[in-house]
Amino acid sequence: MTLEEKAGQISQYFYLAGMSAQAEFVEAEVRSGRAGSLLFISDPAETNRLQRIAVEESRLGIPLLFGFDVIHGLRTIFPVPLGLAASWDPELVERVQGIAAREARAVGIHWAFAPMVDIARDPRWGRIVEGAGEDPYLGSQMAAAQVRGFQGDGIGTPDHIVAGPKHFLGYGAALGGRDYDEVNLSENELRNVYLPPFAAAVKAGAGNIMTSYVGTGGVPGAADRRLITDVLRGELGFEGFIVSDASSVVDLTTHGFAKDDLDAATRAIRAGLDMEMWFGLRFQEGMIPTPGVGAFATLPDAIRQGLVDEQRLDEAVRRVLLLKFRLGLFEQPYVDEGRAAKTLGLPEHREMARIAAERSAVLLRNIGSVLPLDRSAVRSIAVIGPLADDKQATLGPWAFAHDLEATVTLLEGMQRVAGSGVTVAYAPGVPVPTRVFPSPFAAMEQFVGDTSPQAALFDEEAEFSRAIELARTSDVVVLVLGEAADMNGEAASRSTLDLPGRQVELLEAVAATDTPVVLVLLSGRPLDLRRAIERTAAILVAWHPGSEGGLAVARVLFGEVAPGGKLPFSWPRSVGQVPLIYSHLRSHQPQTSMMRYWEEESTPLYPFGFGLTYGEVAYTNLCLHASAIGLDETLEIQVEVQNRSSRAIEEVAQLYLHQRYGRAARPVRELKAFQRVVLESGETRTLHFQLDAAARRYWSSAQNTSVLDASIFDVWVGGVSTASLHAEFTVQDSTGSFLSPTNKP
Ligand code: BGC
Repeated sequence: MTLEEKAGQISQYFYLAGMSAQAEFVEAEVRSGRAGSLLFISDPAETNRLQRIAVEESRLGIPLLFGFDVIHGLRTIFPVPLGLAASWDPELVERVQGIAAREARAVGIHWAFAPMVDIARDPRWGRIVEGAGEDPYLGSQMAAAQVRGFQGDGIGTPDHIVAGPKHFLGYGAALGGRDYDEVNLSENELRNVYLPPFAAAVKAGAGNIMTSYVGTGGVPGAADRRLITDVLRGELGFEGFIVSDASSVVDLTTHGFAKDDLDAATRAIRAGLDMEMWFGLRFQEGMIPTPGVGAFATLPDAIRQGLVDEQRLDEAVRRVLLLKFRLGLFEQPYVDEGRAAKTLGLPEHREMARIAAERSAVLLRNIGSVLPLDRSAVRSIAVIGPLADDKQATLGPWAFAHDLEATVTLLEGMQRVAGSGVTVAYAPGVPVPTRVFPSPFAAMEQFVGDTSPQAALFDEEAEFSRAIELARTSDVVVLVLGEAADMNGEAASRSTLDLPGRQVELLEAVAATDTPVVLVLLSGRPLDLRRAIERTAAILVAWHPGSEGGLAVARVLFGEVAPGGKLPFSWPRSVGQVPLIYSHLRSHQPQTSMMRYWEEESTPLYPFGFGLTYGEVAYTNLCLHASAIGLDETLEIQVEVQNRSSRAIEEVAQLYLHQRYGRAARPVRELKAFQRVVLESGETRTLHFQLDAAARRYWSSAQNTSVLDASIFDVWVGGVSTASLHAEFTVQDSTGSFLSPTNKP
C-alpha cells in the first residue's frame, strides 16, 4: 500500500446522497483508494454500487466498511435507549439489538455507532436519551448486553454487526448540560463512574470505540493519549479499532488545540486514534460548504516529515483490515439486495418492539387504582394532547431508516385495544411544541413537522376548548404530553425541564373538569412534574416507545400487561437540582442532606430505581451467608420477594451496597446487582445474589489506584434505591485493618 492508500484506509467519509457534489467527491476518493469506510447509507443497492467502485475500480480492490447510527433499530424502531435501560432487562436489550443488527446487516451495514454508554447525570443534556442514565452498574449491564446483541458470538457472526460503544470519555458531563461544552472530570468520577460501562463493553468484545467530541480537562477526546492508549488499550486491554467522532480530528484546530490539519492528524494518530470520521465538507464562514479531504489526508506528509512513525500508521491500517477480514468482506463484499425485503420490519421484529416498549414503561403514580383501565366502568376515553397522534414523537430521535407510516401512535393503540364497548375520541388541544432554535438534524431525521393544510389551519383556541369539552364528557382522560422527537438527542439540550409549549396549561384545564387524568409522558428525559402531579390520577412514562409504541402503551393502560420498568435516573423536582444522583457521598452533615436548599427538599421527586406495578410487592428475609468475609471472598445473599396482588407482575429486585469507611469516602449506596423477575399472583420467590470482591473494588484518588478495603458494609435489597430491608457484613483482611500492609490493591 502507498502512504496515500494507508491514510485512505483509515479515513471514513459521510456519504451525503442528497448533496451531489459531496457524493461525487467521496466516490472519487473511494475509486482512488483514499477512503476505507463510509457512513450513512441504508439502501442496499447504493451500498453495492459504492462497494463495486472500491472492489472493482480501486487499485487494491479493498472493500469498504459501512457504518451507521443503528441506535434503537433500523426499520423496526425500539424504545429509545434510555427507555430500554428502564426495562432493567439486559436479556431483552440483547435481543433487541440482535434484531437491529439483523436488519442493518440485511441492507449492507457492517458497523453500528452504538451503544452510547456515556453516563448522563444532567438531564438538560439532550443525549441522556441515548444512554442508560446515571448509574455505572446499570450502564455496564446495558453496555455489555448491547455489544452482545450487535455482535452475536463475536465479530463475523452471520446477521450481526460490529458494535462501537461511544463517546470515550466523559461526554455526558458537559457543563450546564450544554451539548459539546467543556468537561472537567475528577479522576474519582472518571474511574468510578464514567469508565465502567466502557470497561464492560470492552470485556464483552466490542470491536470499535468512538472517541468524544469534547475532552476532559482541555485535551479533546480524539487526541487524548492518556485515555486512548494508556487507559483504553493499556488498562482495559481494548484490541479493536478506535474512530473519532464526526469531524473531530479536523475540529482539533477549532478547539484551539491543534495548529492545522497536519498537526491535528499527527497528534490524533500519535495519541492512538485509528480512524478519522469526516463529513467530507469544509465549512468556511459565510461560504457554501465545499467537499474536501479530512485531516488524515495529511498523514503521508506527516510521515515524510518524520512527525509520525510509519509503524503507528501500519498498526491502525492493520486493525481496520483485520476487521474487514473478520467480517468476511474480502470473500463477500456485497449484500444480497433481496434480503432487505425479507428482513426489514418483520412481524416478529415488531412484536419484539412492542414487548420492549411494554417492559420499558415506568408507572410513577396510580391513585385509587385508576389503572389498569376497567372496560366495564370506563365507557368513553378522551385521548388528549398533541403527541398522542404524533408518529415522530412515538419513534423519538436517532431514527433514520424507519417506516413512519407503520408507526403505531398512542391514539391508534388505544383505538385498537379499547374494544368495541369503549369509545375513544381524540383532541390534540394544543399544537405540537417546537424548538426556538431548530434541530440541525431536522432534515436527516425527517422532522419535517406537520405540513398538511389542516396543520396550518389549527385553530388553537377552538382546539383547546374542544379538548376540554371532550375531557368533561368522557369517563377518563389519557393525556399524552412531553417532548417532540427533536427535543432530545444530539444538539438538543434544554435550560429547563418544563413541559414545552402550552402543555401545562392544557393539563390544568383538563384536570379542572374533574374527569380522572392518566398522564402518559413521551420524552427522553425527566420533566418537571410539580404542577402535574396533584392533578393526575396516574402517570406512566412511556419514553419514545418506537414502532409499536402506541400499542404497547395501550396494552399497559388496559392491563393486558403490568408495568415493570424502573427509573434509570433520579427524577428531579426541578431543574435547579440537577445534577442529582442517588449515589452521592455522605459528605458534611449527612443528616441535612434532604434540606440543602432552604425552599424545597433536595431529594428527588422519584428516586432512582423507582417504578410501580399493578399490585403490591413485598421483600422479606434478607440473609447473608456470612457476617464476615475475607478481602477476596464472595458474599452470597438471598431475599424473598412476594407478589401480593391477584395478577402476574414483573418486578426488578435491586441490591445496593455501602462501605462505611475506607481509603476514600464511598457513596451512600451503589447498585451492585439486580434481577427482573416474573411473579405469578401470590407467588413468593427466593432470589440469590453474589457479591464478589470486584463489586467492592473502587478507585481511590488518595492511592491513585483501585483498592479493596477491609470495612463494614451495608446491604439493602428492594424494588427501589431507597429500599429499607437491610443487613450488614464485615470484610476483614488477615489483620482486620484496612491500613494493613497486606491490604494491597
Ligand atoms: C455523533 C455520533 C454519531 C456520529 C455519526 C456525531 O454527531 O456525536 O454519536 O455516531 O455523529 O452520525
